Amino acid sequence: MEEIEIPKEKLPKHIAFIMDGNGRWAKERNLPRLMGHREGALVVEKISEIAFNWGINYLTFFAFSTENWKRPREEVEGLMKLLDESIDKFKDKLIENKIKLKVIGNIEELPNYLQRRIKYVIEETKTGEDKVLTIALNYGGRWDILQAVKRIALQVRDNKLQIEDINESLFSSFLSTFDLPEPDLLIRTSGEYRISNFLLWQIAYTELWFTPKYWPDFNEEDLKKACLDFAQRKRRFGGLENNA
Ligand code: IPE
Ligand code: IPE
Ligand code: MG
Repeated sequence: MEEIEIPKEKLPKHIAFIMDGNGRWAKERNLPRLMGHREGALVVEKISEIAFNWGINYLTFFAFSTENWKRPREEVEGLMKLLDESIDKFKDKLIENKIKLKVIGNIEELPNYLQRRIKYVIEETKTGEDKVLTIALNYGGRWDILQAVKRIALQVRDNKLQIEDINESLFSSFLSTFDLPEPDLLIRTSGEYRISNFLLWQIAYTELWFTPKYWPDFNEEDLKKACLDFAQRKRRFGGLENNA
């Protein structure tokens, strides 16, 4: 693994990944789709090792969307089992490197064995210091916003919160990402130019980076390209370049 020649302050602090193209990667090789997902899971390990090593402390991977239940039962079941196995396999590395596991999404709808695994690994890694690996699982940006709205409404109803207190920062604190900085960079593989209901509120000012490569082929070189590109971007946040 190489060092990266970008100064730390120019690197993103938080990268979010839409890992797309596992199915097409497998199809091109005449393999079952699940083999693409397996290969993709290995890439999560490799890429997170590299990125954490470069000093990027927050990584978020979109693993299963609220819309992915529409897929054939066999694929959904295979994915759930693969997630269970992968989280289990990843556990020791996370502990060893003091990385916290965080899962965002509607966990209650996942199979019980997977819910138990997630709770266990979150517990085992909770003393991790400043690195956080987040897996978005049964996640949808709209789901996230709605669950926040419902919890805020309950607090207003119970007089624990006044409507005047609702602002962007309060709203963010009710999202599942309440303890993460907003992503600086969002990477999507497989040549699709869309967000597919990933982090919607949180990416208001995120830099976007797309590659035609399928997720199982995404490697250190690609990550470096995305980071170099990010380092050149002028983030204005609606202001002007020199006094933003
Ligand atoms: C991304 O790969 C992984 C998940 C959505 C679970 P896909 O399974 O969407 O692969 P393609 O887009 O069909 O190639
Ligand atoms: C987005 O990929 C979801 C994940 C990567 C988990 P999809 O393959 O589900 O997205 P669409 O259907 O092409 O928009
Ligand atoms: Mg896809």
